[in-house]
Amino acid sequence: MNIDSRVSGKTKLVGLIGNPVEHTVSPLLHNTISSKLGIDMIYVPMKVEKDGLMDAVSGLKALNFTGFNVTVPYKNEVMKFIDDISKDALLMGAVNTVKIMNGRLYGYNTDGEGFSRSFKEESGTTLKDKKVVMLGAGGAARAIAVKLALEGAKKITVINRTVSKAEEICQLVNNNLHPVAEHYGWDDVEADVSLEESDVIINTTSSGMFPDVNGYPYPKPINFSARQIVYDVIYNPSKTRFLEEAERCGCTVINGLGMLFYQGIYAYEIWTEVKLGEELLKDIFSQFRCITEST
Ligand code: ATR
Repeated sequence: MNIDSRVSGKTKLVGLIGNPVEHTVSPLLHNTISSKLGIDMIYVPMKVEKDGLMDAVSGLKALNFTGFNVTVPYKNEVMKFIDDISKDALLMGAVNTVKIMNGRLYGYNTDGEGFSRSFKEESGTTLKDKKVVMLGAGGAARAIAVKLALEGAKKITVINRTVSKAEEICQLVNNNLHPVAEHYGWDDVEADVSLEESDVIINTTSSGMFPDVNGYPYPKPINFSARQIVYDVIYNPSKTRFLEEAERCGCTVINGLGMLFYQGIYAYEIWTEVKLGEELLKDIFSQFRCITEST
């Protein structure tokens, strides 16, 4: 019998709080990186019931956790228990990563950074001066819109079924960052024009996500052109109907696996203050892709 010595009294603790957490792939990512780097840290998912968030957060602090991720449905609610929230996370209205130092809780949002790193890595270009159309105006859209403005996008057009939510995101961007955002509803002709004129189109809705594999985030087919980069935050299926149609038109297509990967990497970097090298990241990402596609 082999003695399992992976966890000792010195092992640093990190994890995820949310509900549900059963299907998360984050432990695979974080624990693989720790083993590869020889860092003595373990990542555990923890399901937290509706009334238990405050107790969970103070419990993690009392248990001397290094930090934790926060997922649905607590990314907004957790903010009231955090001592210091980064400017990006405040604008994004959500915290998904917390670091605990000397009994203080520091909150970050790594979703926007995850999006931007995966976009650059997979498209080979940056977001600067791009005309971008976003479909959807939920939590993911808000984080991405803030990041797009911070990275110097020339124009951000938010199109959403419920137009008031698109308007809210645009006001946030225009009032706090740069006046580059405009919003449309599904019935506005300008929405179609923006789609045609854009350099980048991003689906931030859940339409098309398993099991809704026939879902499409816009009420009519989009006229993609080959010069466009088309991004879907969904990674299951790995190619949504939206991405399949864009690919058929010759576009560069990117799914949400990279965003998931890099938001986790950025959280890992925040907790450990270790900056992961390019080659190592590419290697881990290809393994991560294999693992997630087989789970
Ligand atoms: P998340 O945090 O993952 O972004 P969310 O905050 O619930 O999730 O936001 C979901 C977004 O997807 C919303 O913009 C929603 O549109 P509405 O604001 O009109 O509800 C959009 N969405 C969800 N299902 C959709 C569908 N079938 N077609 C188009 N948009 C959809």
